[in-house]
This record gives sequence, C-alpha cells and structure tokens, in this order.
Amino acid sequence: MQAGLESLGIAVPPTYVELAELARARGVAPGKYVDGLGVTRMAVPLVEEDTVTLAARAARMAMEAAGCTAEDVGMLVVGTETAVDHSKPVSSYVQGLLGLSTRCRVFETKHACYGGTAALLLAMDWVRSGSAKGKKALIICSDIARYGVGTPGEPTQGAGAVALLVSDKPKLLAFEAGKTGAYAKDVMDFWRPLYSKDAVVDGHYSVQCYLDALEGAYRAYQEAAEDAGGEGAYSDRFAALVYHVPYGKMSRKAHRHVRTLDGDKEPDASFDRLVGPSLVLPSQVGNIYTGSMYLALASLLSCSREELTGKRVGLFSYGSGSCAEFFSAVVQPEAQARVKALGLENLLEKRRALSIPEYEAIMAAREKLDDKPAEETPGEGFRYQGTRDHKRIYAR
Ligand code: CAA
Repeated sequence: MQAGLESLGIAVPPTYVELAELARARGVAPGKYVDGLGVTRMAVPLVEEDTVTLAARAARMAMEAAGCTAEDVGMLVVGTETAVDHSKPVSSYVQGLLGLSTRCRVFETKHACYGGTAALLLAMDWVRSGSAKGKKALIICSDIARYGVGTPGEPTQGAGAVALLVSDKPKLLAFEAGKTGAYAKDVMDFWRPLYSKDAVVDGHYSVQCYLDALEGAYRAYQEAAEDAGGEGAYSDRFAALVYHVPYGKMSRKAHRHVRTLDGDKEPDASFDRLVGPSLVLPSQVGNIYTGSMYLALASLLSCSREELTGKRVGLFSYGSGSCAEFFSAVVQPEAQARVKALGLENLLEKRRALSIPEYEAIMAAREKLDDKPAEETPGEGFRYQGTRDHKRIYAR
C-alpha cells in the first residue's frame, strides 16, 4: 500500500524581526547574519501564541486543503522540543481545539528537531501496514526556537508549525518504503535543561555533529536503497535535496559535504539547482526546529520553477543529541499547484515587522507566560490566554 503526504499546512506568527536591524542593534555587521548565516527575517511569536496555537493553526490549514473532517483522523502526533507541559502532550490540547474524534491515538514525540520525522515515519508504517483502515494521520511539527537575547544563537531563532496529513492517497509526495538511512549518536551539541526556557548550544560543535550525522545517514540510505554504482554523483539521482535548515548557510554546508562525499570536485556548483528553492521560505522565518525541514519542503514545492512530477526528492532530518535520517519521496502530479494554492509566500509577506525594543519586550514577557493569570483577550483564532488553577486556557 502507498503512503505519503496528502496535504500540508503552515502556521507562522504574524510578526518578525529584520535580521539586518537585529545585527545593527547588536553591533554586528548585517552581512554576518544575512549572508553569513543566510537568514533575512526571523519569526517572533506574540505572547498569545505558543506551540499549541501554532500547531492547531497549521493543522487546520492541512485539513482544509484536503477536505479532511475531524472523523477522518485516526492518529494525531505532535513532534516538538518546546512543549508546554512535562506530562500533558501538546497534541491533546490540539485535539480539543480542533474537535477531533475521541477514537484517535494522540501523543507527542521528542527528539530535538528530529521528533516530527520520527512521528512521520511511524505514521507512514501505520498506513502501509493496513492498521489505519482508511483513516489519516495528522503529524504536526511545532516549535518556538529560543536561545535568548544577545547570545550567538539569537539570529538563528524562529517560530512556526508545519502540519502533514499522511494517508494512503498521497497527493503531494509518496514516500519510498524501506529507503531510509538512520544515524544516531549520544552527543552534547544542543539541549535544553528542564529548568530553562532557553536552549543551551555548543554552536560550532553542533555544526560538526550535524555534518557527521548527515554523512552517516546518507551512507546508510545508499545501503538501504541497494542502488550503488552508476555514472556521476549519487545525489544527482534526486531532483532536489531538502536539508534540515537551522539557518540557510547550514544547508549550503550540508550540500557541500554530500557532494564532496559523492566525489564532486565543484561541490557548490549544483547548490542553486538542487537546494536553492527549498530555502526561499526558511530564509524569511528562521529556525522552527522540528518543522524546519518540512518548511523547506513546502518552499521547494511552492517556489521551484522546475516541473517535479514523478521526480525523487531526498530529505535529511537532523535532531541534536542526536538522531538523523535521510529518506526519499516521489513528487505526485499537481503537488506543486496544490502547495502554491496555499499562498505561503503571500502569508509571509502580510506579516508585520517588529522594532528591536518591541521584540525584546516580547522575549521578556514570554519569561512569565506560564504563570500569567488567564484573561479574555480580543482577537480571532486560537490564542493562549494564560493559566487558571495551573491549567492552560485557550481561546478557540
Ligand atoms: N559578511 C558575511 N559573512 C560573514 C560576516 C560578514 N560581515 N561576518 C561573518 N560572516 C560569516 C562567517 O564567515 C561564518 O561563515 P562560515 O560558517 O561559512 O564560516 C558565518 O558568517 C557565521 O559566523 P560565525 O561562525 O563567526 O558565527 P558565530 O560564531 O556567531 O555563530 C552559529 C554561528 C554557531 C551558527 C550560532 O549562530 C549558533 O550557535 N546557532 C545555534 C546552533 C545551530 O543552529 N547549529 C546548527 C547545527 S545543530 C542543528 O541543526 C539543530 C538545530 O536546529 C539547533
């Protein structure tokens, strides 16, 4: 049985910071953030937004795009590393906000930025095995990436969610069963202790850990695919490569590494062709952890000028700590038109720029959000309103 993506949905905050402006405020040359890291804008969530509200918004878009009803969903998993509770999963709040059926398997997965991929691959096997019995899985990657004001990681923050509707009717991508290569190693490159809202990172070491994991997963994929040999660079078997994007430059480093492993003497020459379109949206949003690679995938389908129908895409997901996977999928007819119709570029254009003092005030306010007494807030859609009796309260 086939399994793959029937639709996808994206949610980003309505506000962002221009990285050139942030650089000036930090006394850094703007070129370092914009060209050196490859990020133009960084999404900043409002205080009424959290991992739950972003996840619910993204899921609603994915469900509407596929005409999927609440009763159609038999599994709901949220992959996140910025959950709102040590016990109750983000997915339970989302189930409530979306009014999904009680006949649904609902849980959360965590492994840094790989958590969503773990859920996606599990859902794929659930569909292929026949256990889904025609039901769909809703996999949501939702995070608020936060390193703190004035840290080296600050320009690599971001916020957003990507929802992936998985079924036996893949209208966007059909994933290739068995063609996955995993790599895991216990490393301390990036983590967030239970007592901290900000991530702790050994920045340059994390880049090396990412590249080591990429190499391991890429080689494991080739073994699993059992298609060694042939002419030219192995990665030319893909029409596009989508890497986990903590910041755009990391994708360039990743691609350079893959092409060097392939024996390519000019490893940068194929970057614009194979990777460029996947970075258009991420460069406007920043790192969204679990959702980053899937935002890059949406960017590829939305922004590529090449006809991709029937072609193979390679995907690399990396979660610090670490676990990584290289896997592949085939683009389905009209997938590009369907994703374009979501108007994702327009969605990003409509956002409002924050001044640096406004952004810093939001960062400070977020410190106390878990203790904020719940109050009615004006506005539309899913909103976090604060806590009452230690319970998080949301407006629908
Ligand atoms: N114009 C153009 N480029 C400039 C420049 C200028 N004026 N000044 C500096 N640069 C370039 C540098 O040459 C460098 O490029 P290369 O990487 O190609 O050498 C780039 O800008 C960055 O400069 P630095 O390395 O000096 O920057 P830094 O020390 O301040 O930190 C960082 C960079 C380590 C990525 C830091 O932002 C960080 O810690 N980020 C968070 C961790 C992270 O994202 N790690 C990625 C791998 S782990 C992962 O992927 C999981 C995850 O999501 C977190």
